[in-house]
Amino acid sequence: MCGIVGAVAQRDIAEILLEGLKRLEYRGYDSAGLAVISSSGELQRVRCVGKVQALRDAVNQNPVKGSTGIAHTRWATHGEPAERNAHPHVSDYIAVVHNGIIENYAGLKEKLIAQGYQFSSETDTEVVAHLLHKQMTQSTRLIDAVRAIIPHLRGAYGTVFMDRRDPNTLVVARSGSPLVIGLGIGENFVASDQLALLPVTRRFMFLEEGDIAQITKTTIEIWDKTGRLVERPVIESNAQYDAGDKGTYRHYMQKEIFEQPNAIKNTLEGRLQHGKVVFNELDNAAQEMLKQVEHIQIVACGTAYNAGMVARYWFEALAGIPCDVEIASEFRYRKPAHRKNSLFITLSQSGETADTLAALRLSKEIGYIGSLAICNVAASTLVREADLVLLTKAGVEIGVASTKAFTTQLTVLLMLVAKLGRLNKMSEATEQAITHALQALPSRIEQVLTFDNMIEALAEQFSDKHHALFLGRGDQYPIAMEAALKLKEISYIHAEAYAAGELKHGPLALIDADMPVIVMAPTNELLEKLKSNIEEVRARGGLLYVFAEQDAGFESDSTMKIIALPHVEEITAPIYYTVPTQLLSYHVALIKGTDVDQPRNLAKSVTVE
Ligand code: AGP
Ligand code: GLU
Repeated sequence: MCGIVGAVAQRDIAEILLEGLKRLEYRGYDSAGLAVISSSGELQRVRCVGKVQALRDAVNQNPVKGSTGIAHTRWATHGEPAERNAHPHVSDYIAVVHNGIIENYAGLKEKLIAQGYQFSSETDTEVVAHLLHKQMTQSTRLIDAVRAIIPHLRGAYGTVFMDRRDPNTLVVARSGSPLVIGLGIGENFVASDQLALLPVTRRFMFLEEGDIAQITKTTIEIWDKTGRLVERPVIESNAQYDAGDKGTYRHYMQKEIFEQPNAIKNTLEGRLQHGKVVFNELDNAAQEMLKQVEHIQIVACGTAYNAGMVARYWFEALAGIPCDVEIASEFRYRKPAHRKNSLFITLSQSGETADTLAALRLSKEIGYIGSLAICNVAASTLVREADLVLLTKAGVEIGVASTKAFTTQLTVLLMLVAKLGRLNKMSEATEQAITHALQALPSRIEQVLTFDNMIEALAEQFSDKHHALFLGRGDQYPIAMEAALKLKEISYIHAEAYAAGELKHGPLALIDADMPVIVMAPTNELLEKLKSNIEEVRARGGLLYVFAEQDAGFESDSTMKIIALPHVEEITAPIYYTVPTQLLSYHVALIKGTDVDQPRNLAKSVTVE
């Protein structure tokens, strides 16, 4: 979850560490810290609660100088966000930064205390520092000591170790949390995400599961999980990082909402040809495998799960392929049964979500026909580990609340529906209707974005509310789920989503004038049924906000506000109706004054269970 940056160089690296952390801040941001070895071999450590700017201020007050160091932004799992719990953690001459969780830390801590170690934090990480220190009494080299302690650590982690007595070396270990080595000239770096290192290098080596590496200014040695010395390929990155530039936007989330027409255009580019979906990235063997697919299992978390839920409606209704969707954290422990000719699809913006990765690994044991990842980060673990990959081309998404990643995931999923559908029983006409709707989508979204001012005014009516209910039917039910997730995530208003037909089975009891009910009501065969559900709410004094097409036959009155949107093709309506709900959450959060891009308690990339 957190951000890690490390450097072993010939120049002062404090600024590189701070800039790196700033770029990773969206991954975790409750506290931050760094430790740099001075030219006289001292460990200079600065830590503080809050964001990277607070750390920068603290470093300005207390300058550190040196060419080897490690730094961290924390997303607390063990111990509250407090200076004493911020990383790096230190045991005498050893310093450690850590991403993830050491699951067996309690037992290790007990033993270390019995051996005389004193703990100054409540973190699981400090155990690693002391354990390594203890091991150093038997090993002369840091790398040997790290290798000796790794078998004693359970859980998912990415760690960087430093010994102030050997300022020319960093040792890193990857087990479940991503780490990338950045190659410089006469200097080398490590980080939990390449974005952190783009100002200093574009050449990267991605560590694999179980890898341990020793990095000096001029050498990089990597051992795999069996202890074999290995070479990892050097990849020239063309990743873009434009976080410094929000342009005219106040927040990344706002920018990312408005980027959606382009993000979708980029995702479609080259993949729609003469009314057909063409995935050049899928070779003949992949096409042969896809022909045999009789069932689809989608697994994902959060927003990506909601995208999967929409796809289920599409796969079954448009392509005639049975589809199940499950939250990764449930799937991985449920002991799912084998299904014949089932394709395992994972969806993820980051490609580093721990539960999604674990589900993918489990799927290989269960025996699916193959795995396919739909992901936004080409250099991610998910992309490396899946059999087939379809990338979304949303560009870097910084806002913790996912927006353009969701709509581009849906875009790829709908193309996949057409692709698999045609290999199944889908007619050419349906494929053409899909490609036509997708082609029109970017400009439809441009249009709906012009409702921004109107939705901003509407948001006033939500800001004093404590609860909200979102309703939808069919493929709009998951859109209601996504809208509720977005509102709670950034405005902290408790929001729930229901399939509108389910209301009378319980949630109707909640309806009163203090509970706004937001309805997704595009024109489709369920509209009449939905209108009856709306009447059920009105009859009980509920306050309704209905997103519908101009000519859908709704009229605003004192209990019902209609947000009349321009026409959209029925197939792509779920993608289109998402956008006004993103704007609504954004504006409600703005009015409430919450931290839109970095909402409390959350992190962008959830690399722990
Ligand atoms: C979305 O707004 C969330 N912050 C979150 O639910 C996210 O979608 C989830 O953690 C999955 O992340 P991934 O797409 O990177 O796997
Ligand atoms: N488990 C560690 C802690 O709570 C690391 C958390 C992180 O990944 O930021 O300090």
